[in-house]
Amino acid sequence: MRKGPLTILSILIAILFSTHYWWAQHPASGIHAADDGLALTPPMGWYPWNEFGQEPQNEKLIKEMVGALVSSGLKEAGYTYIGPDEGICFFRNSSGKLTPNLERYPSGLRGLGDYVHRKGLKYALYTDAGTHTCSKAMPGTKGHEYEDMAAFAAWRADYLKVDWCNTQGQDVARTYATLRDALHAAGRPIVFSLCSWGEGEPWKWGASVGNLWRTTGDICSPGKADWDNAMKIVAANEKLYEAAGAGHWNDPDMMIAGMDGLGEAQNRSFFSLWCMMAAPLMAGNDLRKMTPSTVEILTNLEAIGINQDPLGFQGRIVRREGQVEIWAGKRLFDGSQAALVFNQGATPSHVHVAWSDIGFAESTALYVRNLWTHQTTGPHNDGITVAVAPNDIAFLRISRTSDFPVPPIIVADTYLVSLRATGPSAQKLEGTVTVKTNGSDELPLWKVQPGLPSWLSVAVTRRGKSQILTNTVSTEGLRQGLYHALVRADNTEPVSGKPMSALYYDVDLEIVGSSSGGAAN
Ligand code: GLA
Repeated sequence: MRKGPLTILSILIAILFSTHYWWAQHPASGIHAADDGLALTPPMGWYPWNEFGQEPQNEKLIKEMVGALVSSGLKEAGYTYIGPDEGICFFRNSSGKLTPNLERYPSGLRGLGDYVHRKGLKYALYTDAGTHTCSKAMPGTKGHEYEDMAAFAAWRADYLKVDWCNTQGQDVARTYATLRDALHAAGRPIVFSLCSWGEGEPWKWGASVGNLWRTTGDICSPGKADWDNAMKIVAANEKLYEAAGAGHWNDPDMMIAGMDGLGEAQNRSFFSLWCMMAAPLMAGNDLRKMTPSTVEILTNLEAIGINQDPLGFQGRIVRREGQVEIWAGKRLFDGSQAALVFNQGATPSHVHVAWSDIGFAESTALYVRNLWTHQTTGPHNDGITVAVAPNDIAFLRISRTSDFPVPPIIVADTYLVSLRATGPSAQKLEGTVTVKTNGSDELPLWKVQPGLPSWLSVAVTRRGKSQILTNTVSTEGLRQGLYHALVRADNTEPVSGKPMSALYYDVDLEIVGSSSGGAAN
């Protein structure tokens, strides 16, 4: 039978749809985001949206939060990424180029990035995959993917959240894959945070595209913590545990712990759940006015150690007793297991956790570390019974030994080395970056990756749990001008043998007044 034009058309449409379906499931030809060495543990930092919305985001606010992040001890606990969310921070000029909003950010977006880096923090920026951001006050990247990613790299971003507003007609997986390629082309290591609120089921393909993906809608409207909504998000995100792993995380949104309206037990429960789900720990509260209890919760290194565990498992619910959930499924780098008992009921509960609930054989002799009271008991042979108040949680770590090491939690004194040479004669200049781990053990020495420019050499030395990266610059043969290098180093996690995290920082060199004159790269 001859095929009429309508049949041919329907075959073509069918092929188109099936290719589209295949592509949506397998958009990942080429580079895998997980191979980029970034976000090998869930990103930690602070983001403005939950508390502030668009207003009053500006340079002053971000700088105050940088100060508060450092002075409160959050930075020491590993919170690193910070920057404006949809903070009306750039426009598109008539020639299509992104330009910073200098009224709100007088130092410019590169200037703000340098400030963040000098404080030993990493710089987070935000954009949208569509025509505009959600408020329409900022341009989206649609049709400008490569130039925009180059602009974020030039502003020295380390983290980019890409929202999904105003994307009518765009395919989620395909759009984010284009942006991934554009980010790679921009040449700077940038943690890629997908924010389609679960649209397009990014947990099915996100690992090959980005480092984290939002699994749900917003956790709250700006300024209003919403406990019930947060619990719905937990229920949705919990089911996706198989998708999480080193370098690619389910993101149930920024945290609401410490925002007005939540009590201490809720803050503790919320934070424990985010740790257990290996969720990004992006604080969303006002860091300038935290109660001592909020600081204590957000900086609990034993809880953070569960979140930052290098094996990267996301815990899940293994059993329910009425309104009490028993969570497990999070094996840790030392062979111990995390467990959590969460009481969403209205009355206190006594719950027995059997060793078989958490993957140990019954009658094994095990030690139990309570991650909130910081007490170890045991050995216990028959499981353990815990008392949990309403909205509260028992967050435990269970091991064959009574030793509970914390994995590496890395902080740096700066991520920017700025050097300046004056005068015509060749000079040697030096600047250091010191990183230390707040985990239990020393780390093996960071290994600097090859490919540095000839004017720069980097030596790594150890001092206890700190490592010093000494950057030596020789201006010999260089002309007047500005030079830049990105230094990248890797470390090896002691147990899994995998890189622990990609460490990178910028070296800026300015040469003024040299006799040979002229501009350089
Ligand atoms: C979306 C995102 C939020 C925030 C706002 C900004 O709603 O999900 O996290 O970035 O946009 O408009």
